[in-house]
Amino acid sequence: MTDTIPTPQAPAPDILRCAYMELVVTDLAASRSFYVDVLGLVVTEEDDDAVYLRSLEEFIHHNLVLRKGPVAAVAAFSYRVRSPEELDRAVAFYTELGCRVERRAEGFTRGIGDSVRVIDPLGFPYEFFYDVDHVERLAWRYDLHTPGALVRLDHFNQVTPDVPRAVKFMEDLGFRVTEDIQDAEGTTYAAWMRRKPTVHDTAMTGGDGPRMHHVAFATHEKHNIIAICDKLGALRLSDRIERGPGRHGVSNAFYLYLRDPDGHRVEIYTQDYYTGDPDNPVVTWDVHDNQRRDWWGNPVVPSWYTEASLVLDLDGKPQPVVARTDTSEMAVTIGADGFSYTRPEDSARAGDEDVLPSWKQGEYKLGHQL
Ligand SMILES: [Fe+2]
Repeated sequence: MTDTIPTPQAPAPDILRCAYMELVVTDLAASRSFYVDVLGLVVTEEDDDAVYLRSLEEFIHHNLVLRKGPVAAVAAFSYRVRSPEELDRAVAFYTELGCRVERRAEGFTRGIGDSVRVIDPLGFPYEFFYDVDHVERLAWRYDLHTPGALVRLDHFNQVTPDVPRAVKFMEDLGFRVTEDIQDAEGTTYAAWMRRKPTVHDTAMTGGDGPRMHHVAFATHEKHNIIAICDKLGALRLSDRIERGPGRHGVSNAFYLYLRDPDGHRVEIYTQDYYTGDPDNPVVTWDVHDNQRRDWWGNPVVPSWYTEASLVLDLDGKPQPVVARTDTSEMAVTIGADGFSYTRPEDSARAGDEDVLPSWKQGEYKLGHQL
């Protein structure tokens, strides 16, 4: 759809990991209640306009900033870099690409020093920092842990119209693909990319964008995710559950998708695998494989494919959303023209006849059919 983003001559900044997301929320008290009282994130600091939250194993100031604002959106996808000098590289890298770049020695949020924010060539607000206040790592404070304890920020997930274009740019930024979803015609529907040695620090999901699909926090074990579901039920908040719990095909992780009071999607995620070797094999899934998104073949609800959060420019205005022109994953797997199979040997006749049992045809939830 659009021209390839050129590879800059300037070297990419050395990114360590996804570090925090800044979310704009319309009702700060309601969001605080969801993330603190329900999900158990720890308040590092707060004021009338913002709440700074961290997970239990984190030692940097925050993994999530909730900032009060008029439009629910994402203000920053923030990454930690290996040294202060990497910020100079970030400035040079994005400046060469013609991106808007803003650097603040005092940082953009509390607890974090010298930082660079950019609007990247894909339209996303990205931040890079090294300097940060250290706070108490609560890993051993089991007196504070709940049955559904969130222990780390795991990854972001971004919605973008042209996944191969986004992947090529992210590879220039130093990311490596670990898994993707394609079809035989060569369309790529999604890709997972990492800096730290897990399946991903961020993923690119094909759709109208730039938008934010979800932010994911990790628990230690699968049972912690079940405990979150039980707690939501006990609080009569089961309508916060959008999809899951389940086992992903992609990433092999156990998952649960929730929606916060503004509709921002949060994933609870655990037990993916090590990817740190340079020859880590890339796993490619067929878009028609009914186990790619859920290893048990459970439906993906339509809202999960279609809904996502706006992202902001550096002035706080929502970025315009560009429509995807490639076929959508929902269209090729749901409904009259879409198809899925469970066994690869069934794939040849899939599409000509229904190869899934009637009760599995169409990846939608009963009562929410397209
Ligand atoms: Fe995810």
